[in-house]
Amino acid sequence: MCGIIGYTGKGRAREILIEGLRRLEYRGYDSAGVSVCDGNVIRTVKSQGRISVLDEKIGDELPGTSGIGHTRWATHGAPTDTNAHPHASADGKFAIVHNGIIENYEALREELTRHGMKFQSETDSEVVVNLLDYYYDGDFKNTVMKATSRLEGSYALGIVCSDFPGTLFAVRNMSPLIIGIGAGENYFASDVTAFISHTKNIIHLDDGMFAKVTPDGVTIYNSIGAKVRPTYEKVTWDAEAAEKGGYEHFMLKEIMEQPRALEATINPRLKEGKFSPEGLESLDISKIDRIVITACGSAYHAGVVGRYVIESLCRIPTTAELASELRYASPILNERTLVIAISQSGETADTLAAMREAKKLGAPVLAIVNVVGSSVASLADYVLYTWAGPEIAVATTKGYTTQVAMLDIFAVWAAGKLGTVTPEREAELTSAIVSLPACVQRAIYLASNVEEIAKHSHKHSSLFFIGRNIDYACCLEASLKLKEVSYIHSEAYAAGELKHGTIALISQNQLVIAIACYEALREKTMSNIQQVKARGANVIAVAHETDRSLIAEADDVIFVPETEPLFMAVPQIVPMQLLAYYVARENGCDIDKPKNLAKSVTVE
Ligand code: AGP
Repeated sequence: MCGIIGYTGKGRAREILIEGLRRLEYRGYDSAGVSVCDGNVIRTVKSQGRISVLDEKIGDELPGTSGIGHTRWATHGAPTDTNAHPHASADGKFAIVHNGIIENYEALREELTRHGMKFQSETDSEVVVNLLDYYYDGDFKNTVMKATSRLEGSYALGIVCSDFPGTLFAVRNMSPLIIGIGAGENYFASDVTAFISHTKNIIHLDDGMFAKVTPDGVTIYNSIGAKVRPTYEKVTWDAEAAEKGGYEHFMLKEIMEQPRALEATINPRLKEGKFSPEGLESLDISKIDRIVITACGSAYHAGVVGRYVIESLCRIPTTAELASELRYASPILNERTLVIAISQSGETADTLAAMREAKKLGAPVLAIVNVVGSSVASLADYVLYTWAGPEIAVATTKGYTTQVAMLDIFAVWAAGKLGTVTPEREAELTSAIVSLPACVQRAIYLASNVEEIAKHSHKHSSLFFIGRNIDYACCLEASLKLKEVSYIHSEAYAAGELKHGTIALISQNQLVIAIACYEALREKTMSNIQQVKARGANVIAVAHETDRSLIAEADDVIFVPETEPLFMAVPQIVPMQLLAYYVARENGCDIDKPKNLAKSVTVE
């Protein structure tokens, strides 16, 4: 979703802002712009389309050493030059960038129009700059406080005022915003990627807080304007981790990084041969009689896998719920229900809302999250970081597999505590999880035929993924991966459901990908493969490397290494990620930044 960058210092703001915006491109956007302060003049340039278009439009213009920049993902109003941010006040005194949604913008717009203020754009954001103009009394901080006190909804704001060159204000309410501390220069941005090449020292702004940022320092205030002592943190990864490192796309790089990412998730949790994850010390699992996993998109699919694993090992009734549904479903949750919220970015609006609902009802909330210090981590009672490193491609890969591995670790830890597995079985499961990075490395190796398969399957306009149990959960993720990067329609079906209607769609040459790794139900899935084959389907099967019998049944087979059946979801998604990648590449798609999508979905 929208990305914000702010800079003040001695460098050329124009270059630093454009570089920051390029690093935020992965969040998804359709227009971009910057405002640079040159003495008491603010100059704004904005443009529909890519940052390169904006860069060209700016040319060598825009001198100045402070300013704000923005990538916009359209919500209110089409992606036009006028609707792009920054928005400036009529007299040019203020310019703002905004990420989030101002829910009361219509009422504010009406009120400000009555006071004679003019609006140029169709956006909700423009009310912010006109409120600043309306309340301006010569005191920048007071004006920011008065204007933002009128706002309802979610917002991260960057604000400049021509009367205070070099001073920026950054405001946060339910949208991510992080301050970067440099030497004689300071930054703020929607995420650290934007300024990681300049500084790793950061301050996380909490909801309701705002910051005055000048070249010499940063002052943090709470919502009533009192100074707050900030907590300084250091980012542990560097700019290189957020670069392609020789790969054609971030998605491919991140697929290949999975063995290393899984090691980072798994190894630190192992103490004396047992899983003992830091963060769970005070969670008394024996007091929990139900688990509700909630998340969106791929993180939800990880939750569907987790549901099977937790129920099987811990015998605690567990469901996986879409966060966007759970938040409005009047859920029945209480202090004996553990809610597990999963998120790579830690900023997903629906997941955060579901967590707030759970907390309101008294349920303890455990977060499985990648981004350290994110909103999801701050809101949760217990936090398990996946430590997968920065994920830049919009389509998650290492984010997903590390979430599944973390759920596997949680399930083994909980089963050990509850005594629902014997110590011998616990040791066996632990060692299977520890072997997952090597298993994924082998899955990458075994998938060498996937690029070839993509060459003769990329022209299909629609396909089905079928599987049962954990294989079905894997189908959900495989189907989403293919859809989002290649724009090919696909559906994931529980294989046993086909005969209840969908089999009517199977005809000559229909492509069906059958995941048949879950040993206990392998024969059942085999019958489903035969049913679709009998109706003319082309079948690509995904099977254990030892399961050679499928070569005779399917048109193509992709082999995956065998591990503990409950943990197969991790290696078996790897060839599906690669298939989505290669199909998208064959079709010439914008793999890392698929159309209409955003990496971090910070609005509802
Ligand atoms: C997956 O490839 C998507 N980018 C998307 O479904 C994503 O998983 C979802 O938006 C949730 O994001 P989160 O993990 O950052 O909360």
